[in-house]
Amino acid sequence: MLNKQTTQLAPSILTADFGALVSEIQAAEAGGADMIHLDVMDGRFVPNITFGSLIIETVRRATRLPLDVHLMIEEPDRYLEEFVRAGADNITVQVETCLHLYRTVQRVHDLGCRVGVALNPATSIETVREVLPIIDRVLVMTVNPGFGGQKFIETSTSKIRRMRRLQTELNPTCDLQVDGGINTQTIADVVDAGANVLVVGSAVYNKEGTVADNIAALRKALAY
Ligand code: DX5
Ligand code: ZN
Repeated sequence: MLNKQTTQLAPSILTADFGALVSEIQAAEAGGADMIHLDVMDGRFVPNITFGSLIIETVRRATRLPLDVHLMIEEPDRYLEEFVRAGADNITVQVETCLHLYRTVQRVHDLGCRVGVALNPATSIETVREVLPIIDRVLVMTVNPGFGGQKFIETSTSKIRRMRRLQTELNPTCDLQVDGGINTQTIADVVDAGANVLVVGSAVYNKEGTVADNIAALRKALAY
């Protein structure tokens, strides 16, 4: 089991109030977030359309936290430079969108940025084996990508465990991130299975509590 002290929270702004984006970001920073997770969607790879580099630039100006950019778009190579220039500290591409994944990974590193590779729920962990030694982060999707507020797919826990074993073998310092349906009910199990970077969207940005209280509740759920 991993040391829970090393667990990082990455609030996703998908369900934040975009009319008050700067203060929503600053509330996450003040509440103890470790990075901001930004979901870029193109309406093709996933059914939803969100935002592009203009919003990343706005967020960059609002916080000193690292920006974790999750590209759910086709042909991500066309936009890598733009997102790095906008202020991304990490860019994660979906393995399903990359015909030449090794080249894409090298390209992000050449741009001076950390790189992650994301896997849809139906995508095998074997699809990242060959690039695992050279990447900074694996992202196991625990919902079908496209929308915030979905239910955690239960079989993900065993996938996270298997992914962590592969990472221990091939790249022990690589982050294992999870994304989708992480809340006070599911957080302890995914950390126990080996995840150390947790995307939290609707569990942080919702109408029930303040951003700071919601982050505190997630940390408390990890303490047991
Ligand atoms: C889903 C996105 C997630 C989303 C998570 O496709 O990649 O980052 O914002 O939202 P929750 O935590 O509400 O499932
Ligand atoms: Zn995401």
